[in-house]
Amino acid sequence: MRIETDVLIIGSGIAGLRFAIEVSEFAEVYIVTKKDKAESNTNYAQGGIASVLSPDDDFELHIKDTLSAGDGLCNRDAVELIVREGPGEIQKLIELGTQFSINKSGRLDLAKEGGHSRSRIVHAKDLTGYEVERALLKRISEIKNIHLLENHFAIDLITEHHIGKKRKSSDEKIHCWGAYVFDVKKGEVHTFISKVTLLATGGLGQAYLHTTNPPIATGDGFAMAYRAGALIGNMEFVQFHPTALFESDSENRSTKPAFLISEAVRGFGAKLRLKNGEEFMHKYDPRGELAPRDIVARAIDSELKKSGDSFVYLDLTFKNSDEVKEKFPNIYAKCLEKNIDITRDLIPVIPAAHYACGGVVTDFEGQTTIENLFATGEVAMTGVHGANRLASNSLLEALVFSKNAARACRRVILNHQYNLPEGIPDWIDTSRLTTEEQILISQSRHEIREILWDYVGIVRSNERLNRALRRCKLIYEEVKSMYDESKISEEILELRNLIEVAYLITYSASLRKESRGLHYNIDYPFKDDVNFLKPTLVQNPLI
Ligand code: FAD
Ligand code: SIN
Repeated sequence: MRIETDVLIIGSGIAGLRFAIEVSEFAEVYIVTKKDKAESNTNYAQGGIASVLSPDDDFELHIKDTLSAGDGLCNRDAVELIVREGPGEIQKLIELGTQFSINKSGRLDLAKEGGHSRSRIVHAKDLTGYEVERALLKRISEIKNIHLLENHFAIDLITEHHIGKKRKSSDEKIHCWGAYVFDVKKGEVHTFISKVTLLATGGLGQAYLHTTNPPIATGDGFAMAYRAGALIGNMEFVQFHPTALFESDSENRSTKPAFLISEAVRGFGAKLRLKNGEEFMHKYDPRGELAPRDIVARAIDSELKKSGDSFVYLDLTFKNSDEVKEKFPNIYAKCLEKNIDITRDLIPVIPAAHYACGGVVTDFEGQTTIENLFATGEVAMTGVHGANRLASNSLLEALVFSKNAARACRRVILNHQYNLPEGIPDWIDTSRLTTEEQILISQSRHEIREILWDYVGIVRSNERLNRALRRCKLIYEEVKSMYDESKISEEILELRNLIEVAYLITYSASLRKESRGLHYNIDYPFKDDVNFLKPTLVQNPLI
């Protein structure tokens, strides 16, 4: 099937949906999403959305906190943009029907999280993402010119490459004209031709063995953009959330995410303790439990290495139990299912891969280096997060940049700044094998996740990175031939993307010969502002 539309959006998390609502005012919109429409990182966001809304807060403080977490690599203008536009975006979400938690004075209840000097996290109890996703999807369902297709997996972006046009020089612009999309239920690949395409595919946590990210987070957008020739930046900065619930089956091979114990729990006063009950965070940072995530995750990692234990504890038992249940009903209920009553028992936690600070490089309107390809949300690198993202700045960044990208999209569509070529071919299926090769696919997927966890995790070294690079190259070759021969399936498509992002993360980490923010290499334990106060940029050499 061929579908021609004004705008194609890949992904139905906060970034894709916010953009869709704006552009539907002037364009026909298709949203393709690879699973159920709500299945996204957004849906699981707990803590909330950072925004300056309290009289004791100001924009400069939020900017300062963000820059400080980003450890020298944030773009100040990008940070300023999200901070200043934050309150308007919260207001917009409320107008769209989002119900945030309200305090006793009838105002938005503002929580505190690590790295924030003020209480500024707007939230819906501890189910913020679920509530935002619900409200956005409801609004989308009311808009006639938005068509949302579930179980539609984007395979590749359509560019000059697909019409057999070679670039004369690397200065010549690449254009995006849509995407090939696998209709999972029908087993067919459709050709979507669009004037503007938005990548809103979210993160890549599933590239790691332990992650808070749901199974959809296989880095598809990063990989698609890289294959198409877009500039990609800062892939080494993968954020590990310090407190994912440790379960005895945490060592198994499943793609089931680790349940997150929100940073807001530490913001509420919870303490981290070793197995013997000792507190340890004050040894690492004067801000203790509320230091930025890179510091807390590294502190836990270091204590676990010293003790040989598999987890540390998070302690809420000294807090008022009614208040705990009122503020964190979801965390309370989920832990109770595992026989942990968080008002009485210590919670076993470990760090887990959580967020990609790098991604597809964009300007302040979400435009990538490929003409008419936009990227917003976690897949984008806008300059906001630098070397480490401040808690609860992700949903905010997705909102602000998606709104701004819609403004740029309006210009493209209304001024006819697109040039759809003749002769875009349909997908050619060259597969020979069947799904009997399934075991090879799942083995390779597991290998990738182990390699990244073991060698490209919280603490890195030259030897570990070199080992990871060698293994990634080998798996890349194997996956490439499997992909060329396999019948298209979600599994082979995800594997192809996972090995691509594993390589991008490892290669980018090997280029940064210093330690900064989330990237810590024991062979270069210090920051090197002379040589590395800049993003790590990579681009597909084959395009
Ligand atoms: P997502 O919400 O992940 O949406 C991506 C969409 O793309 C999905 O619909 C997916 O199915 C689709 N997709 C992916 N690949 C394809 C493909 N090939 N074809 C078609 N569709 C595809 N951030 C905060 O600011 N505050 C928080 O409190 C917070 N809590 C978090 C808690 C958890 C457990 C997690 C995992 C993350 C949290 N984050 C938080 C981070 C934040 O939720 C994400 O960064 C943000 O939701 C990303 O939004 P997005 O729209 O870019 O991507
Ligand atoms: C959390 O609730 O701890 C997650 C917040 C975030 O990732 O920004």
